[in-house]
Amino acid sequence: MKRIGILTGGGDCPGLNPVIRAVVMKGIKLGYEIVGIKDGWKGLVEGSTIPLNEKSVLDILAKGGTILGTSRTNPYKDLKQKDRAIANFKKLKLYALIVIGGEDTLGVANKLNKEGLRVVGVPKTIDNDLNATDFTFGFDTAVNIATDCIDRLRTTAESHHRVMVCEVMGRHAGWIAVYSGLAGAADVVLIPEERIDINEVCKILRRSRKKRKGYSIVVVSEGAQLKKGDMVLQEKELDAFGHVRLGGIGNQLSEMIEARTGFETRVVVLGHMQRGGTPTVMDRVLGTRFGIAAIDLAHKKKFGHMVCLSGNQIKSVPLSRAVAKLKTVDKKLYDIAKLFFG
Ligand code: F6P
Repeated sequence: MKRIGILTGGGDCPGLNPVIRAVVMKGIKLGYEIVGIKDGWKGLVEGSTIPLNEKSVLDILAKGGTILGTSRTNPYKDLKQKDRAIANFKKLKLYALIVIGGEDTLGVANKLNKEGLRVVGVPKTIDNDLNATDFTFGFDTAVNIATDCIDRLRTTAESHHRVMVCEVMGRHAGWIAVYSGLAGAADVVLIPEERIDINEVCKILRRSRKKRKGYSIVVVSEGAQLKKGDMVLQEKELDAFGHVRLGGIGNQLSEMIEARTGFETRVVVLGHMQRGGTPTVMDRVLGTRFGIAAIDLAHKKKFGHMVCLSGNQIKSVPLSRAVAKLKTVDKKLYDIAKLFFG
């Protein structure tokens, strides 16, 4: 019986378990043994696995997170680790490996594929910033959570006649901010793709104050930057993939808005709330469709590819295309959000 491994890497997100469930269920039907690799690439480096069968995936469809665990381990940071990962692939007698991850995790999958390992990719991230797929699972859940929070902030902002600044995740792409800002009828949405002009923001807020009984909602993406300013970081240390930890722009903005306008302002940082809890219907279905397509790709020996969503069709693209660049916010979509500013 051929054995196929599956791992989840990088930040977790709702929808990972539906992918795992689909791979296991369809994989068994196709005659494969499916084995889980624990904690992303760390598990392959250490040779740490969990057996997966129908029973282990019975009740996981609605469960957030990942039953396999995850990490931000980058085996290419230390070539000895990379060699161990390749050796364990062989030692575990893996026929193929299904890798569920974002830009970083799939970047490793792409390199390992070039070194001869049979891999298939599945795109995940709440940030929706992966190239070559219209959407990633996790994004829909994150924007629903963020929108619900914005709706809640609105009532308290209105009662207190305040400006509420809501900082959302998304790294260097403003997808979560634009979608939740549009859906939550924010007065201003600020994203990494366009530098922030604080004077313009205050102008909009003064205008919105008149219209909206004296309150306003500002949604800002964690990676947004002021016109004259650097990215705001939580810590300067880089992770194994060379990324900084973003966060803090909401606080900075809130102080600037209050100082310039005199409007009482509060900030809420949604942080990991956006990644937790049960996946939405969209993410359960997309994750399931991706999982089925991934095991089908492995079965058809189409290695070095990632499943993707194109329109409403599940297709596949070479992994190298998926990790070639980040998918940033479509200008036309941001222009729509801007129509509703203030
Ligand atoms: O990539 C997903 C994401 O949630 C980003 O939006 C955020 O910047 C980052 O991960 C947070 O990472 P961590 O969970 O390591 O704090």
